[in-house]
Amino acid sequence: IAAAKGDYRHFMQKEIDEQPRALMDVLRGRIDQEHGRIELTDIRLSDADLRRVRRIYAVACGTAWHAGLVAKFLIEQLARVRVEVDYASEFRYRNPILQSDDERDALLLAITQSGETVDTLAAMEEARNQGVSSVAIVNAIGSQAARLADGGPIYLHAGPEIGVASTKAFTSMLVAAYLFALRLAQARGTLTPAQIREHIQALIELPGKAAQTIEQTTPLCIKLAERYHKASNALFLGRQINYPIALEGALKLKEISYIHAEGYPAGEMKHGPIALIDEQMPVICIAPRDHIYEKMVSNIEQVRARHGQVIAIGHLGDELLAEKAHHLIGVPATLPLLQPVLNVIPLQIFAYHVAVLRGCDADQPRNLAKSVTVE
Ligand code: G6P
Repeated sequence: IAAAKGDYRHFMQKEIDEQPRALMDVLRGRIDQEHGRIELTDIRLSDADLRRVRRIYAVACGTAWHAGLVAKFLIEQLARVRVEVDYASEFRYRNPILQSDDERDALLLAITQSGETVDTLAAMEEARNQGVSSVAIVNAIGSQAARLADGGPIYLHAGPEIGVASTKAFTSMLVAAYLFALRLAQARGTLTPAQIREHIQALIELPGKAAQTIEQTTPLCIKLAERYHKASNALFLGRQINYPIALEGALKLKEISYIHAEGYPAGEMKHGPIALIDEQMPVICIAPRDHIYEKMVSNIEQVRARHGQVIAIGHLGDELLAEKAHHLIGVPATLPLLQPVLNVIPLQIFAYHVAVLRGCDADQPRNLAKSVTVE
């Protein structure tokens, strides 16, 4: 195993760096650029099957659950199908009402890196017992989730992920969910061919932008880790599709550095977390130029008014944001629905360097397992 790490000190760092390659691999063979079509041949559902779907239940645990929250935005926006997102451990015990007997219109979307998480598998079995098909976004080839997914596994092809904190599997999950949403949209006619082409173009450019993000944000992330690694609390704020990225940034930091961190939808800040903000507290605000940019900027002003330390994640060259925040981590712009893939990368890098500076083992955090196969 030591050899597989190459020149890297930790697998997590290696896996962060592997993301441009992983994003290429999850796209490979699934896009027909010439005809502007998504060729997701992994799924065993016909266009007619996909047109019948009127509700999707996304179930997952941990980081994969954050991918489910992002998938909700993707599927609802692109394919106009309602999505409910559940923790698999909650779903399995709540006797969920998935569909009525005369409407066979539900689909389960399980998301799991290992394909062996016990709660996610139980959720898939619940769906099966209720006659609902499932599709699994999964990394491990031939895993239990891949086998249980009668609608087909959508493999990430991200390669083995050793670091307990998921990085390349997460960004690959987001892209797999994007492909699935586009595939649904294609069957349902909710996007024009020109719009599908625009999404395809953005997907093709994504691995290069991920490489640029790693290269250009790492030096600042290291500086910020040096500046803030002694903090005892951190708050991550985002809105809409970047709210799950705030959750993921907080999870990464807490699981490997043991700093207490919370992710919050920025609009809820005033209903609780604002009470915790003082001059010691780093507040990481995800604020790309999208339809709620102004709202994020006003949240940043509110944090500053309470003397919080604002680290903004925004578009490269956003001068307004640079002026409002203490620090701006600039990432390349992509389509708003794809922006989470790039936004999460500096959060991974920041968490990694904080963990290293605090003397924590980023690959093997205490008490955590890479895959939770028993309850
Ligand atoms: C564990 C791991 C997490 C992972 C979660 C779900 O908690 O430490 O990194 O996100 O399980 O795992 P799965 O294999 O189902 O994606």
